[in-house]
Amino acid sequence: MKFRQILLTSAIALALSACGQSNAPASDSAAPAAAPAAEAAPAAAPEAAPAAEAAPAAASKPATVANCATTIEANDQMQYNADSITVPASCTQFTINLKHVGTMAANVMGHNMVIAAQTDMEGIDQDGAGVTPDHVKADDARVIAHTKVIGGGESTSMTFDVAKIKTGGPFKFFCSFPGHMSLMQGSIQVQ
Ligand code: CO
Repeated sequence: MKFRQILLTSAIALALSACGQSNAPASDSAAPAAAPAAEAAPAAAPEAAPAAEAAPAAASKPATVANCATTIEANDQMQYNADSITVPASCTQFTINLKHVGTMAANVMGHNMVIAAQTDMEGIDQDGAGVTPDHVKADDARVIAHTKVIGGGESTSMTFDVAKIKTGGPFKFFCSFPGHMSLMQGSIQVQ
């Protein structure tokens, strides 16, 4: 009888300690679980904010144009500093100066600029990748104008007849260095 009582007591003690042990982790895990949940709520807000900013960003960096010319900068982060070039309709010819303001070499982070109809971009980019140092296929009739590829600290320029982008389009400017087009592109229009 006494022995049975001891067994029972120790069984209760075990049960209690088991409870205590399982309670502790349970409340521990409940706390972290609540924390991420609390973090998840604010995370939804930042996501909504960039989305709202992204809409105007689609064409929010117009190039500065003067005297039928503009200068576009390209950097080591694979970016142009403009995503829209508006060519004055009064211009017969237009000059785009391209300046690589980064420091990386042309074979690593080279940039050029190609002008073409938006529908031709993909084909020009694919056919030009690696075939020449400038990543533009020789005599590609789809190319309206293009510069050579330059590296950090270098500049280049191109001049083309505005008549070529007055009809048709929409027209784009982009970098045909392999892998750059998705980030380095913008619209070019006559107005
Ligand atoms: Co580039």
